[in-house]
Amino acid sequence: MAKPLNIGLIGYGFMGRTHSNAYRKVNQFFDLEYHPVMKAICARSEETLQAFAERWGWESCETDWHKLIERDDIDAIDIASPNNTHHDIAVAAAQAGKMVLCEKPLAINAAEGLEMAEAVEQAGVANMVWFNYRRVPAIALAKQLVTEGRLGKVFHYRAEYLQDWTISPKVPQGGATLWRLDAEVAGSGVTGDLLAHSIDTAMWLNGPIHSVTAMTETFIKERELQDEPGKIGPVSIDDACAFLVRFENGAMGTFESTRYARGRKNYNTFEINGEGGSLCFDLEDAHRLEYFDNCDDDHVHGWRSILVTDFEHPYMDKWWVPGCVIGYEHTFINALADFLDSLASGETLQPDFRCALDTQIVCDAVLESAKSGQWIEIAGG
Ligand SMILES: NC(=O)c1ccc[n+]([C@@H]2O[C@H](COP(=O)([O-])OP(=O)(O)OC[C@H]3O[C@@H](n4cnc5c(N)ncnc54)[C@H](O)[C@@H]3O)[C@@H](O)[C@H]2O)c1
Repeated sequence: MAKPLNIGLIGYGFMGRTHSNAYRKVNQFFDLEYHPVMKAICARSEETLQAFAERWGWESCETDWHKLIERDDIDAIDIASPNNTHHDIAVAAAQAGKMVLCEKPLAINAAEGLEMAEAVEQAGVANMVWFNYRRVPAIALAKQLVTEGRLGKVFHYRAEYLQDWTISPKVPQGGATLWRLDAEVAGSGVTGDLLAHSIDTAMWLNGPIHSVTAMTETFIKERELQDEPGKIGPVSIDDACAFLVRFENGAMGTFESTRYARGRKNYNTFEINGEGGSLCFDLEDAHRLEYFDNCDDDHVHGWRSILVTDFEHPYMDKWWVPGCVIGYEHTFINALADFLDSLASGETLQPDFRCALDTQIVCDAVLESAKSGQWIEIAGG
């Protein structure tokens, strides 16, 4: 009989739905010692919250996260609210002895992120950051191929994360649904929102980053405020960001992100070129990993496209039969399964807060470099 783990989830937007779905499904597909109990959902609007709770099966509602944390019947706090709420909730939850799962980016800057990492470490509570793309089977397979030494010495790491949803000047900023365009709430624009994912994946696959030099651009300088129709305010976020990287292993990297790439919806890609081979991934074709193996005989050299659905592939023995693909929502279920597994095994799960802080430090350095025009060395990198 699996042990119950009582969850209090904060936020019922986009991520609130992906996490709720994960809590509902995880024990159906994974054999685990723990099963999450959907104890309480928290957000500020009581009426809509109640409807969400009924739809997804949350047992109770709270409209103040402080009350949620005070509850004795909650074991783990899951933060799926905007970035500027992560720090205070995580620190309070850790001090109350709760496990903490937190959405990415860890915080709005590294100073807050450090306090969060220290809080969970001092409290000795289990913690995880939802960098869910690590749990895409094709990306996990890329990690396996790198770990097996198939790429040899890595020369290049190339990442792009492109979207197109802010091109219209009519898109307002701020408020309940467009907080991503407000640096006070989001911390930054594409750097924290999209490149944090690319940086986490890159450092997972290719090791620590030594130094960065960056440029950012804000294409539309003023937008209407969503909460104050008719009022125009300056845009405080980076609409686009490009940066160069030196990795500690000697590889060079290029990273680019924008929400102004017409036609790109969630184009999260990377390519790694090593002496022994190359890997290439595109989230919009998420069940495939492209692999060039230089060990192949010359006459059959060529990129192979691996359909990552076999039982031998990461996570795929938990899902359907070979050839049947899984989707975006499964990455959260895979991540939750790993978290619950780590509770049973006692092993530290990555990415934890300390690991996500490393990504936050790189994000801060990227933004600082874009301002100063200088190369920035990553402290401790
Ligand atoms: N892992 C990923 O791929 C991924 C994808 C999208 C978003 N995110 C992250 O998830 C977090 C939430 O993003 P989202 O897209 O779900 O946002 P959202 O706007 O869809 O939902 C935010 C939710 O937080 C609630 N909220 C806001 N302030 C609150 C407060 N003070 N107390 C309680 N609830 C509060 C809102 O009511 C809403 O339900 C962000 O940190 C974001 O960066 C991660």
